[in-house]
Amino acid sequence: MQYFCGKQRIAKPLSEFLNMQLVPGQVFIDLFCGSCNVVSNIRSDVKRYANDKNKYLPVLFERIQHGMKLPKDVPEEMYYMVKDMPEDTLEQIATKGFVGFGCSFAGKWWGGYARGGEGRNYAENAYNSTMKKAAKMQDVAFFCMDYSDFICPEGSLVYCDIPYNGTTQYSAVGDFDHEKFYDWAQQQNGCRILTSEYKYNVPDGATIVWEHNSKKDIRNKDGEKESTTEVLFEFV
Ligand SMILES: C[S@@+](CC[C@H](N)C(=O)[O-])C[C@H]1O[C@@H](n2cnc3c(N)ncnc32)[C@H](O)[C@@H]1O
Repeated sequence: MQYFCGKQRIAKPLSEFLNMQLVPGQVFIDLFCGSCNVVSNIRSDVKRYANDKNKYLPVLFERIQHGMKLPKDVPEEMYYMVKDMPEDTLEQIATKGFVGFGCSFAGKWWGGYARGGEGRNYAENAYNSTMKKAAKMQDVAFFCMDYSDFICPEGSLVYCDIPYNGTTQYSAVGDFDHEKFYDWAQQQNGCRILTSEYKYNVPDGATIVWEHNSKKDIRNKDGEKESTTEVLFEFV
């Protein structure tokens, strides 16, 4: 499933690094899990938690754990019908999560019906990638709250894929206050907080522990995907 600003491009090297920092039985928290590209690649001998303030994706993955089936084909009429559907049950919320992100252009929330190109069924691709991730997350516990309300157990490794500074905000969850997040991260004694960002956005006083060269998701005005360096930083 495509997810706007998801870590699908760099999930493999990033999770390889995170896996090396973990020991069996430790708690790993993907505190801004989005479409779970990272937590789904974290070793299963740790206790894994995934949280996002936007309810649709945690509820989607939690419902799949409980046996909910997703559609493999989502015609355009169904896309708009799901958009207008009520949210009375967890299944309805999960269906909206799958269709509203997975079947939308560029994985943007109801960003327009994504038509598959020649021989390509967009919904089926979203279905396959969602089920592939879900199969690796049978034991993940899902939560839906603001990061600052989450109580991180002592000794846990907390991965924070925050909305990058200066990028389009997630309208569903409100603007992200980066200064407030840096204060919070520095107050989490007893846990290790590792945060993703572009290298040029790393705040003063933080230490870079991992970096990776990649291309931005968004194209510039010349239609090109610019090269950039994404890092993990921590306050030590
Ligand atoms: C960069 S995305 C995470 C992408 C994810 N790692 C993936 O690969 O799909 C940032 C996420 O932070 C969530 N978010 C924004 N503000 C939040 C907050 N205050 N507390 C918790 N989650 C928040 C957004 O809903 C979004 O899913």
